[in-house]
Amino acid sequence: MVQTVSVIGAGTMGNGIAHVFAQNGFAVNLIDVSAQQLEKAIATIAKNLERQIAKGTITEEQKQKALSNITTITDLTDGVRKAELVVEAATENTELKLKIFKQLDEVTPSSTILASNTSSISITKIAAVTKRPELVIGMHFMNPVPVMKLVEIINGYSTNKGVTEKIIELSKQLGKVPCVVNDYPGFIANKILMPMINEAIYSLYEGIAGIEEIDTIMKLGMAHPMGPLQLADFIGLDVCLSILKVLHDGFGNPKYAPCPLLVNMVTAGKLGVKSGEGFYSYVEGSKELAVSGRFRK
Ligand SMILES: NC(=O)c1ccc[n+]([C@@H]2O[C@H](COP(=O)([O-])OP(=O)(O)OC[C@H]3O[C@@H](n4cnc5c(N)ncnc54)[C@H](O)[C@@H]3O)[C@@H](O)[C@H]2O)c1
Repeated sequence: MVQTVSVIGAGTMGNGIAHVFAQNGFAVNLIDVSAQQLEKAIATIAKNLERQIAKGTITEEQKQKALSNITTITDLTDGVRKAELVVEAATENTELKLKIFKQLDEVTPSSTILASNTSSISITKIAAVTKRPELVIGMHFMNPVPVMKLVEIINGYSTNKGVTEKIIELSKQLGKVPCVVNDYPGFIANKILMPMINEAIYSLYEGIAGIEEIDTIMKLGMAHPMGPLQLADFIGLDVCLSILKVLHDGFGNPKYAPCPLLVNMVTAGKLGVKSGEGFYSYVEGSKELAVSGRFRK
């Protein structure tokens, strides 16, 4: 049974992944190249555990225990030496991930399972730079990790059945619901979500409806908690564009071609929540959802 986990990358996803493993009794080594990012991650985890206490789902003692299960480290080799499982959640960049997995293959015990939280990079491609492709798998958590129930498990071309079974069990131990899919561009989550977002942007671009109308129709008509344009802002328009390009290149099908409006917005630096403006404008500290001035009628 897996007890020691190393998480690589302490950003948005890495801190959430470390949080859920630590809360469920695993010893976690949280690794990042940036010491400042590690400090920020621990502060975020502590704040999110506080929120769980306020909701009555955990106790102060459980919070302290979870925090004490996490060790932060800037040296990758030191951080993975004893890991039974590594979950990589570093920046979404193919060259970087290939370099990390090559190194992991050299410095972890030969039985260590190597998982990636990538949203769009081929698990088979990542596995191919290691000498243990049968132990490489996708473990795609959703944002925010402590809240979202799904783990999309991605079998690479060579992933061993026993490894998939272990990751299914482990996901259940974290209180998550695992779903296993095969390794094709966008896996399932993004192969279905991104064309929907792209179609919403096309509908705006073609003047069929405005931002509020498109989002309201999908919220009230389809019971989606958030409209596709607001969701795109939340994910980051640059991230949406890059995943659409992966789908377009990977399947060679024009139906995945990114909408020119999306391309223009990313070029103009309008990336959604993180840049303060996308389809909506975001003011720090305000929860009001206001359509960006660029799209107001
Ligand atoms: N943000 C999301 O909603 C989301 C959802 C699902 C999956 N993902 C995937 O999760 C991964 C991480 O995304 P994120 O949004 O957390 O990114 P992020 O930019 O918030 O964090 C990435 C972290 O990786 C660190 N890093 C970079 N190079 C490193 C290295 N060599 N060793 C150790 N750490 C390194 C950075 O310092 C940074 O702290 C990506 O593969 C992304 O596709 C993201």
